[in-house]
Amino acid sequence: MKLFSAPMQGHTDAAFRHFHASFYGEADAYFTPFVRIERGDFRQRDLRDLRSDLNENHYLIPQIIFNSVEEFDRLVQVIVESGHRSIDLNIGCPFPMQTNHGRGASVIANVELFNAISARIKENPDLSFSLKMRPGLKNNDEWEKIIDTINDTPLAHVTFHPRVATQKYAGDIDFAAFEDFLKVCAHPVVYNGDITTPAQITELMDKYPSLIGIMVGRGLLARPSLFNESLSSEWQRDKRLDTMLRFHNALKDHYAQRLCGESQLIEKMKTFWEFAEPEIGRKIWKAIKKATSMAKYDSAVSMI
Ligand SMILES: Cc1cc2nc3c(=O)[nH]c(=O)nc-3n(C[C@H](O)[C@H](O)[C@H](O)COP(=O)(O)O)c2cc1C
Repeated sequence: MKLFSAPMQGHTDAAFRHFHASFYGEADAYFTPFVRIERGDFRQRDLRDLRSDLNENHYLIPQIIFNSVEEFDRLVQVIVESGHRSIDLNIGCPFPMQTNHGRGASVIANVELFNAISARIKENPDLSFSLKMRPGLKNNDEWEKIIDTINDTPLAHVTFHPRVATQKYAGDIDFAAFEDFLKVCAHPVVYNGDITTPAQITELMDKYPSLIGIMVGRGLLARPSLFNESLSSEWQRDKRLDTMLRFHNALKDHYAQRLCGESQLIEKMKTFWEFAEPEIGRKIWKAIKKATSMAKYDSAVSMI
């Protein structure tokens, strides 16, 4: 069973991935937040992330989001030029900023574009492609329109998040849609969605023996030791928090050298705790969120 760190915009940048791999041991793969074309060009920060020396200690799969064959080609080219051979295709992003422009989950409903992308993948047999998707943009059976093409396309795996895009990342998980997909998908399938404990990983592995992996986003940010614990045994809370603080301190030192000024650093470090309320408790979590100076931020973190 592969354990994958999910792409999370604003969280899983090169520094996060690097220090996560050094404090907790490497996940089986880390995915970059989606790389995109914005106002006709690549974002410099995406290029820096793809090319960072910090990528050297982990296996990285860059992810792209696109609305045309032209965007796909440009993004694939820049990723290959940055030294990567594996590329994940985001056809699941639910945010209107992307879907309204034909990217992310709206590609599931765009059979013509998906067919054209499949043809481009076949023309690049030296690269490894994977998909990250949902059942659909609005309805949970939209994937059925592209499953034949998915099955006919060479793909390393398909990650499935069982919610339609209108649900974003909340609400009931549609296990029935996931099971239907798992039955007919010809590629290795990775499950993604709402995993927060080692026990849930074991349950999923038992329930779906044909799964080849689990991808975790928010649960890994809340509990960065999740994969270690799943591979060995659960850690005591003290050990989890102690290691998390050391991971946090390494990231804070790293960002302190690169970001401009205290307020940028505070805002960046607050994202580290964004999903950690269940782990650190509401009181401390709220104090961190409210901190307006580094002294207040440090004092809130020291309560952990
Ligand atoms: C803040 C945030 C940023 C995200 N950024 C991306 C992204 O860049 N690419 C992507 O495929 N999914 C992205 N996702 C979705 C996650 O990868 C994941 O599919 C989702 O959070 C559900 O998994 P989880 O319950 O393990 O968090 C993002 C989710 C959140 C909450």
